[in-house]
Amino acid sequence: MNQHQALKQTFEHARTYFPSLGNTYKGRPVLFFDNSAGTQVPQFVIDRVTDYYIHRNAQKGTIFARTAEMQQTIVDARQLAADLVGAADHTEIAFGQNATNFFHLYAHHLGRDLRAGDHIIITEADHHANVNPWLELAERDIHVHVWNVDSQGNLDFDHYEKLLALKPKIVAAGWASNATGTIHDMKRITAMAHEAGALVVADGVQAASHIAMDVKAAGVDFAAFSTYKIFGPHMGFGYINRDRLERLEGWRIQKELGKDAYFFEVGSQNHEGIEGFIGSMEYLTRLTKDAEANGLVLDEALFGILRPSRRNIAGAMHFAHLYEQQLTNHFLANLAEAEGVILYGKNAAHADERLPVFSFNIEGIETDMLGHALNDAGVEARTGNYLAINLMKRLAAPFGGSALRISLVHYNTVEEIDRFFNILSNVIQQLKSRVH
Ligand SMILES: Cc1ncc(COP(=O)(O)O)c(C=O)c1O
Repeated sequence: MNQHQALKQTFEHARTYFPSLGNTYKGRPVLFFDNSAGTQVPQFVIDRVTDYYIHRNAQKGTIFARTAEMQQTIVDARQLAADLVGAADHTEIAFGQNATNFFHLYAHHLGRDLRAGDHIIITEADHHANVNPWLELAERDIHVHVWNVDSQGNLDFDHYEKLLALKPKIVAAGWASNATGTIHDMKRITAMAHEAGALVVADGVQAASHIAMDVKAAGVDFAAFSTYKIFGPHMGFGYINRDRLERLEGWRIQKELGKDAYFFEVGSQNHEGIEGFIGSMEYLTRLTKDAEANGLVLDEALFGILRPSRRNIAGAMHFAHLYEQQLTNHFLANLAEAEGVILYGKNAAHADERLPVFSFNIEGIETDMLGHALNDAGVEARTGNYLAINLMKRLAAPFGGSALRISLVHYNTVEEIDRFFNILSNVIQQLKSRVH
């Protein structure tokens, strides 16, 4: 079996871990293409949540064995989150409600150290989660600058350089676009920000569903992630670099307890969700084992030096990205054949710089009509701006800033893509005949 076949076999089998992928609509299997909004969960997660309720359902701060077990489970889960994103260890991780909440917390705490007249950079490409919290600081006469994208939605680094000359204190930027699927060069963004004396708050939400994350290699200072987009429960977690944590002047939360990231976890947490997150990491670990059983190999120079649990979790995401590139190429080849397509973001020539997240419109067809017709035919895909509001306003202006988004992950298949393009072609014919 060559690599192409081994990846296909591994990831087509991965579907079998997800009970919800067998769902039907009007008697036909659903094409679940809304993964950028949230992924489905494997049985590992369902089992973990059930197990929590049976064995470890307890509150913090008692002497019961049940509480001790629950608390240890949360530490274990933070360690797995550290493995997933490449943090030093569990002390750099905090669980919470979702990524948006973390960006608000970061803006609140970092904002305490800012003075009127200070500068902050946000981007035109970002989801509003990492935009709005910073815009709120403008009310205190802090200057918030928008780093522009070009006509393809790529961040304009010349513009960035000009903004960095203002010596901003913070750069808030996304690791990958949830609208166009473009992967941003986070290492370059961070290196340039640090050179100018700014720290970086990264939105890792979209990238983490698709690629092996490495917060240390990218050098980001703060980041946030959504566990429900990484095959887990509806929650999020934050990463805070230890060095930054120590220097966080505005730090006010449970100050007397010390400075570990998890003191951002104020109040009671979603214990069952945190335990469910462990299930999602067990799933990724299983994927690496499956891939290796199919003859796929991890580059030991890169992965052999990692702690074993990180090796297995990041390894799965590495294989997933390789497989997703097959899906991307197949999707873009089909899209090129379809009638009147306007694709936003990277085309086939730059397929390796993007995720399998495709936003497009069809000339002469209203976006919402397209979405409804596809939904009727069993395609669960979203239309709108996906809260990448400024980006979509710029890219899809003639369509009112709205587009159809097909977002795939590693459990989607080539066969599903083929089925989609058959449906799309029929839907286009139907809608065009209605218009004329
Ligand atoms: C890029 C990006 N950032 C942030 C968010 C918001 O994440 P959460 O729902 O965890 O707050 C999303 C959700 O769609 C997203 O795609």
